[in-house]
Amino acid sequence: ADLRREGLYVVTTRAARFFQDSMWTSQEGQTIGLGYYKERGFRDEVLKKFELGYSPDSWDAFITKALQEGFNEKILEDAGLAIRNDKGKLYDRFRGRVLFPIHSFTGRIIGFGGRTLKTDKKVPKYVNSPESEIYHKSDVLYGLYFAKKAIRDADNCYLVEGYADVLSVHQAGIENVVASSGTSLTTAQIRLIGRFTKNITILYDGDPAGIKASLRGLDMILEEGLNVRVVLFPDGHDPDSYVRKLGSSEFKNYIEKNQKDFILYKTTILLKYAGTDPIKKAGVIREVVESIAKIPDSIKASVFIRECSTLMQIDERALITELNKLKQGKY
Ligand code: GTP
Ligand code: MN
Ligand code: MN
Ligand code: MN
Ligand code: MN
Repeated sequence: ADLRREGLYVVTTRAARFFQDSMWTSQEGQTIGLGYYKERGFRDEVLKKFELGYSPDSWDAFITKALQEGFNEKILEDAGLAIRNDKGKLYDRFRGRVLFPIHSFTGRIIGFGGRTLKTDKKVPKYVNSPESEIYHKSDVLYGLYFAKKAIRDADNCYLVEGYADVLSVHQAGIENVVASSGTSLTTAQIRLIGRFTKNITILYDGDPAGIKASLRGLDMILEEGLNVRVVLFPDGHDPDSYVRKLGSSEFKNYIEKNQKDFILYKTTILLKYAGTDPIKKAGVIREVVESIAKIPDSIKASVFIRECSTLMQIDERALITELNKLKQGKY
């Protein structure tokens, strides 16, 4: 089994080199692949560091090369690089896409995310490697290998949604950044971050989906006993687009000024929907207390109860009563 895993690493590493060569040395790759990254503002340094590449717009460019070199069909399929059609014929999974290799936190390539260059809404924007013996999506954070030292040094980890967000934020000099690309945030991913720091700052997209995901992520992080802050971006922006709009130093200022602890974030978001309706406002308070109830450390929880009481102008004792009911599972 270990040998099989080794074999998979060899083929994913070979594929990453093939995709890089295709991008840096072929005419098609330079014009289309490299051209795309450049247009998005990615510099050579970050492209090389993250080993980004391009898969030629062909049904079999990679597998033909790999088979020639002696890789067998089965390992190409097992690694998720080749797909077999109904007629039993093998073809490349990644065709005409820019490719983001996914590294394990020890730096080995375990899979790929591939972005289409088409604006056509009919093709999926991203195609990702399927699960394999070396790639378990729910246990992996994109960018962690390149971020872990910075996470330790800063004692904080920025969490973003996408590959491009990791690259842009990293390129802006904020290297303690990872993404849960390809899945919604998992407990395993939070625990993985927890090995490097107890502080997470969520930088999700400023759209309804991102806000919803941030509220879910926040509760999961609290449940794991980590501290969480959130930065909200203007609607329609994600960290990648916003860092390009502001430039790196303004972006850093924005994050500093706009990061909110989870209570302030959650109340701000929820109150926007609740307006002045007192019943809805009570609902907001209840939801905030629900988040506080997830914090395992009761001293920390009581600090947040006090903050909530001040912020919402609610008697602290009422909040504590509510918290205790929730903790005893009385709902
Ligand atoms: P760009 O448009 O390249 O800036 O990508 P993005 O990262 O901003 O995309 P988006 O905010 O739409 O999605 C966030 C992340 O979700 C992506 O980085 C992908 O990991 C994943 N994702 C987005 N679209 C798809 C898709 O069509 N299929 C799959 N499997 N994953 C997707
Ligand atoms: Mn798995
Ligand atoms: Mn989005
Ligand atoms: Mn996005
Ligand atoms: Mn984006």
